[in-house]
Amino acid sequence: MSLPPSPRLPKPLPQVPGPKLVPFTRTAHAVIQFVKELGSPGQDGRVWEVTIKGKPYALKMFMFCPTDYLRDDLAGHLVRDLSSPRFYTDYFDPFSCECRAYGRLKEENREHLAVRSHGYLLLTPAQELEITRSIAGSEPSRSNIWDRSEEHQHLPIQAIVKDLAESQEPFTAKQVPDMWADLKELHELGILVRDIRIFNYLGGKLIDFSRSWSTPHPGYAALYWADEGEERSGDAHGLNKAVIEWGIGNHWDWDEVVIPDEMVNCASGRGPNQYGVDPRLYNWLKWEKNPVAASAFLEEHVLEKPVDNGEYLRTWGV
Ligand SMILES: Nc1ncnc2c1ncn2[C@@H]1O[C@H](COP(=O)(O)OP(=O)(O)OP(=O)(O)O)[C@@H](O)[C@H]1O
Ligand SMILES: [Mg+2]
Repeated sequence: MSLPPSPRLPKPLPQVPGPKLVPFTRTAHAVIQFVKELGSPGQDGRVWEVTIKGKPYALKMFMFCPTDYLRDDLAGHLVRDLSSPRFYTDYFDPFSCECRAYGRLKEENREHLAVRSHGYLLLTPAQELEITRSIAGSEPSRSNIWDRSEEHQHLPIQAIVKDLAESQEPFTAKQVPDMWADLKELHELGILVRDIRIFNYLGGKLIDFSRSWSTPHPGYAALYWADEGEERSGDAHGLNKAVIEWGIGNHWDWDEVVIPDEMVNCASGRGPNQYGVDPRLYNWLKWEKNPVAASAFLEEHVLEKPVDNGEYLRTWGV
């Protein structure tokens, strides 16, 4: 007698070589009690305090992103296209970006570098209805809260379970040197955050990786050469700016604040080591079961084959 086929269990995501986030439970479903919304509605989703199996968490539920938006906005500055719409979702969708960054922190055992994530969940239709009704109750004028379009009709809302940050404060003056140390370590681990701002920190820890590039990422090979410096300096520049803005707004005594010289130098690209550690140098292949196939996949399949239009030749200085 043959056994009934086992239901297909959700896999770590995204399903491309490189880091991935595992489901929070075996089925990626859980009984969730929605408590209250945290912060104000963000660009990428809604974050709610929830209780799962009696424990409090922050649950970030992501909006759906059409491929056009990913290609023309989030990857709009790139000079080469990806070979398939699927790869825009795998590498540029905010949910995938967070999965890849958190997956890397987990595999490297460096989860303390950000507010910790515990895995992803897929909302059931009943949970989607419940949360949508709660939100619509307070925002009756909003329709299509999750930006679902034709291409997402049958897909569940994707969500990431994170620790509930204890602090409501983005950061204090004392935390600045540690925030820079964490950011440098993220770069060493191949994670370029690309969205360092005041309100992407809570209690001095990053809470948001929705624009991050975790090595290997096709964005690097598709950058116009003149944009490379901006990408590489962006994190240090963002932190420098966030510290100054938050410090001014909160009347910090600047004599008491340690602003790392290295951060200021990396923000301008003028330091002894220019932009600091290069995230592209991270050895991601050490985690791959088949490193040859993984690196060939990235090099040969993800980017559209270049057309000989001069732009490509200039980009690569050929
Ligand atoms: N782990 C957490 N614990 C407590 N509050 C959180 C947590 N994560 C997010 N929040 C709250 O939710 C808000 C939005 O979170 P997040 O930045 O991850 O979403 P987003 O959609 O990327 O928003 P934005 O576009 O404003 O950056 C945060 O500013 C914060 O107030
Ligand atoms: Mg954010």
